[in-house]
Amino acid sequence: MTSAQHETHRTPAFPSRLPNVGTTIFTTMSALAAEHQAVNLGQGFPDFGCDPRLVDAVTAAMQAGHNQYPPMTGLAPLREAVAAKIEALYGRRYDAATDITITAGATQAILTAILATVHPGDEVIVLDPCYDSYVPNIELAGGVAVRVPLTPGTFKPDFARIAAAITPRTRLLIINSPHNPSATVWSDADMRALEALLAPTDVLLISDEVYEHMVYDGQQHQSAARFEGLAARAFIISSFGKTYHVTGWKVGTVAAPAALTAEFRKVHQFNVFTVNTPMQMGLAQYMRDPAPYLQLPAFYQAKRDLFCEGLAGSRLKLLPTAGTYFVCADISQVSDLGEAAFCQWLVRTHGVAAIPLSAFYGDGFDQRVVRFCFAKQDATLREAVQRLRRL
Ligand SMILES: Cc1ncc(COP(=O)(O)O)c(C=O)c1O
Repeated sequence: MTSAQHETHRTPAFPSRLPNVGTTIFTTMSALAAEHQAVNLGQGFPDFGCDPRLVDAVTAAMQAGHNQYPPMTGLAPLREAVAAKIEALYGRRYDAATDITITAGATQAILTAILATVHPGDEVIVLDPCYDSYVPNIELAGGVAVRVPLTPGTFKPDFARIAAAITPRTRLLIINSPHNPSATVWSDADMRALEALLAPTDVLLISDEVYEHMVYDGQQHQSAARFEGLAARAFIISSFGKTYHVTGWKVGTVAAPAALTAEFRKVHQFNVFTVNTPMQMGLAQYMRDPAPYLQLPAFYQAKRDLFCEGLAGSRLKLLPTAGTYFVCADISQVSDLGEAAFCQWLVRTHGVAAIPLSAFYGDGFDQRVVRFCFAKQDATLREAVQRLRRL
């Protein structure tokens, strides 16, 4: 190629929409874990299979020829099953036709809800530490992310600080309980406090409830659906990936009042239009049996206890896990390193991958706490415990 041709065929330079986004810590830690044959308790996904009945239901749907576009909003039987579950568990009736939409995982649901509601210059409050897609999603919509920290140490919502962050430009607040990464859950009193705080405002709510079926020690999940004043302004988002051990399928749900759903669907139809048919058919059939999600707390609580009891008396100080499939650990008795350096050291020298909590903060706040995922086979957890006890 001559230099003149080269010039003509060059890729044009353009300003990045997300100039501050690079490789995430999850990718970095997973690569390091593979390189060092480490036990990977970093990224949050199960290392065990899903129920074969679910695979059979999807396979049967495919073989029966259900392979063309489903309705834009999702298959009716699946939306109906979701509405029935929300009513049974949280006591609110959502209309499957007008209030429930099936999405390509919670990730797409969150992005679509933000794009549907946030105008350039609108403010969106997120509570730090938070899931890593929220802030880039807000920026893609032209919004301004306003980061309000959860209380250091306890990760409880600080309602005075949230109230102080609300301005006439605040369009949306994003909450997440059970909470990734802290493994805390919001109480009934927390949800009521939020309901009272938002009552005089026009602030909309995204309630990210992907871990709704992972709440332990006999506690109840406090869905925003339980609270009239929250449900009226909320996109309530969940994920089949988390509930049924199929994170790779990327199927999620959004429940929202009809007026919010109508705007959500305007964006959804030009975003993904719809979600793959056989997975939806299989999920609709599998949902007829509530046992798998009703038994999930006991299933994961046993794994939490195996991991935590295994580490009792070690130099890692474990923080309580009330929900999710994560355990946070204070590393200050083990090492003087910061969180990120500790995680790199841990994977290289002890062969266990974890995630620094600083990765979930806008300002990289380092409180010497790292996150382990216990959605793993018992043998994997035992191996990790053995390695971590040597610390
Ligand atoms: C808090 C939170 N929200 C959303 C998601 C994304 O869910 P999905 O895989 O259904 O897109 C995750 C996944 O880790 C998460 O932890």
